Amino acid sequence: MIRDKGCGELKESEVGKKITLCGWIFRRRDHGGLIFVDLRDRSGIIQVVFSPDVSRKAHELAHELRNEYVISVSGDLRKRPDGTENPNLPTGNLEVYAERLEVLNKSAPLPLNIEDAGDISETLRLRYRYLDLRRPDMQRNLIIRHRVTKVIRDYLDENGFLEIETPVLTKSTPEGARDYLVPSRLNPGLFYALPQSPQLFKQILMVSGFEKYFQIVKCFRDEDLRADRQPEFTQVDLEMSFVDKENIMEIIEGMMKRVFKEVLDEDINTPFERLSFQESIERFGTDKPDLRFGLELKDMTDLSEKCTFRVFLETLKTGGRIKAIKGKGLAELSRREIDLLTDEALSFGAKGLAWIKVKSISGGGFESPIVRFFPEDVLKEMSRRLEAEDGDLMLFVADEEKVVNDVLSRMRIELGKRLNLIKGGYRFVWIEDFPLLEWNKDENRFESMHHPFTSPIDEDIEKIFSVIGLTHLRPQSSDFRLLSSVRAKAYDIVLNGYEIGGGSIRIHRRDIQRKMFEILGISEEEARIKFGFLLEALEYGAPPHGGIALGLDRLVMIMVGATSIRDVIAFPKTQKAACIMSGTPSQVDAKQLKELHIKTDMP
Ligand code: AMO
Ligand code: AMP
Repeated sequence: MIRDKGCGELKESEVGKKITLCGWIFRRRDHGGLIFVDLRDRSGIIQVVFSPDVSRKAHELAHELRNEYVISVSGDLRKRPDGTENPNLPTGNLEVYAERLEVLNKSAPLPLNIEDAGDISETLRLRYRYLDLRRPDMQRNLIIRHRVTKVIRDYLDENGFLEIETPVLTKSTPEGARDYLVPSRLNPGLFYALPQSPQLFKQILMVSGFEKYFQIVKCFRDEDLRADRQPEFTQVDLEMSFVDKENIMEIIEGMMKRVFKEVLDEDINTPFERLSFQESIERFGTDKPDLRFGLELKDMTDLSEKCTFRVFLETLKTGGRIKAIKGKGLAELSRREIDLLTDEALSFGAKGLAWIKVKSISGGGFESPIVRFFPEDVLKEMSRRLEAEDGDLMLFVADEEKVVNDVLSRMRIELGKRLNLIKGGYRFVWIEDFPLLEWNKDENRFESMHHPFTSPIDEDIEKIFSVIGLTHLRPQSSDFRLLSSVRAKAYDIVLNGYEIGGGSIRIHRRDIQRKMFEILGISEEEARIKFGFLLEALEYGAPPHGGIALGLDRLVMIMVGATSIRDVIAFPKTQKAACIMSGTPSQVDAKQLKELHIKTDMP
């Protein structure tokens, strides 16, 4: 080893020792007489002092040092003189007086500031990712990611799970996104799909008798990207035999408890809260509610019948809904500020944002251009439902149900941030009792809300068998309503407003699976082509089984306090699914394409 220790590992008990360190120049201050350098390695930072009184040669050479040069220094570890300590550094009361300096490598002038990423564009950070990753917070993020992964592996191992790899060159999986395709050279015209998840294989492993499987695995989905969505991301994927939903929830709760304790020293209370899908949508407008603050959505549809406000009445006529949210203390907003809120609602998809200021509930003091359309008892009841007090603002959206919920759930988060209501901490919640099916308006057919192997809850199995044939299925027909009401044995785990995982108990009976395909409009032939191998395997004594997959990137993002999963992935992709550091995707040789029997129509 050419060094004794890491810069951040030095302790006061070692003062007086002579040590050799290696690292990068993080900051330097040349005071002529003394030169101070903050030397950085993975373990942390230590101040190194070059003084002509200790070594003239080292001091002279130190004039040449620039940021990010790689050096080796040897010298005495000393306590810093009183008053010169740096309380922001764990080693802030120590320094090394250099007797020897060797420049191991120089650095070209830096295209970005490593000390402070604050105002650097993300494009620049991604272009020079190797430099960006030197920054202490990025190092910390990836170290935490490593530790989370390690604790999860240990935990699952201790609980009897086997880590088993599944193929990356495989068939399309039914998670609902677009596939990434890989052409097969040996089979002209045929393609592999990169897995959207190991779903089919993990179910087959249950048929094979492994009972408890897990994998920390890359998944690939060609979908529109967002701060919490990457084209390749990592799942903690698991599957168990002879279990019900409760067993899977218990395993995950134990895992989260352990991870947060060991990695962040945070105590997480179990069991987690649970909300039905229906209740979550009703109260928060979304199936991934952030429970760290209130401002719940309140239904005003029934009350709207008693008003004369045209917008609300028309919404009622078309079967829409009117819901409201409280802007705590926002009655003092100016018209201009309220217009900005309205613009926000419009950008979320609303047609407008109706508002009423609560000035004095007891005195009937409500203010708004539309207040004259509402009887006073209705206004009072509205403010009661919203638990509004004098000085609050009531905000209403009228539209079809989905739009109302979408808009208000996003307004709720914006208001929560703006009003500083979102406190720290970790609020887990299970969302359960999802509908099994979701109506696809464009294609006029039902789709699985989760995936086609998700089991209906036992009480609802009869319902799916009672529907014969699909041609008559029209929205609002009785069979349509019956199928819409079927609930799934599916569950999502939500943390602080992010869906960090989802899973289900699977269908293991062939007759139910066949019926599901019928309802989804997937023909026997199509099912055979797409997942024939799984269906066949299910014929040979498949045990009851179920599982879940956690989005590791999202979990770690929340744990490190980042707002994008790109900050917890070493080499992430941009919004356009590109890696600007390596220049991916890129053109390939004509020869390669020819071998793959592929022609493109691009120049
Ligand atoms: P699902 O599709 O819900 O379930 O995925 C599981 C979890 O993976 C994370 N996730 C993503 N993270 C980053 N970028 C993405 N593009 C992305 N897509 C999903 C989410 C999500 O909750 N096979 C099933 C699991 C099962 O049924 O056992 C599945 O893949 O946190
Ligand atoms: P209008 O009569 O269209 O000028 O709208 C009067 C008020 O109602 C304005 O403040 C609009 O922002 C608001 N508004 C219009 N459409 C809706 C809607 N669908 N939901 C809630 N408020 C609306």
